[in-house]
Amino acid sequence: MSRRVTTLLITLTICFIGLFLVDHGATADGVVFTTEFTENPKTLAAGKKIWVKQCAKCHGQRAYPGKAPKLKPSKYKIEFVYRRITKGFRGMPSWKRKYGKLERMSVTAYVMSPNFVQ
Ligand code: HEC
Repeated sequence: MSRRVTTLLITLTICFIGLFLVDHGATADGVVFTTEFTENPKTLAAGKKIWVKQCAKCHGQRAYPGKAPKLKPSKYKIEFVYRRITKGFRGMPSWKRKYGKLERMSVTAYVMSPNFVQ
């Protein structure tokens, strides 16, 4: 069983590395968003979970006014959203210590997706 798990993990790792290497608009710190990543239902589900748990507190859920500005994803570039989440800005906390790169990328993808609700 352990050998199968190891093979699976290695395969998954290679797939993820492959995803990141496809060249579509890299961010300043080398993060690359591919449509394979941003449209993946698993990515969006993981991102939504983080949004509901952490971000909605300040940014407000639908029909509930939050303390932070309402996001306007159609006005943002995906790299901007990722940078704000990673580095923070004034009242917006940095999430670099709390969430790994993949998690920050997932919540970014969710915010920029048609599924996004505040
Ligand atoms: C502690 C409250 C708080 C939490 C939690 C929070 N934010 Fe923010 N966020 C803010 C505030 C306040 C701003 C406005 C900062 C400014 O421009 O002065 C902001 C700004 C932003 C912006 C830029 C908006 C713009 O138009 O400039 C994005 C994108 C964003 N937040 C996404 C997120 C995401 C995604 C999460 C969850 C990981 C999150 N925020 C969690 C308070 C918060």
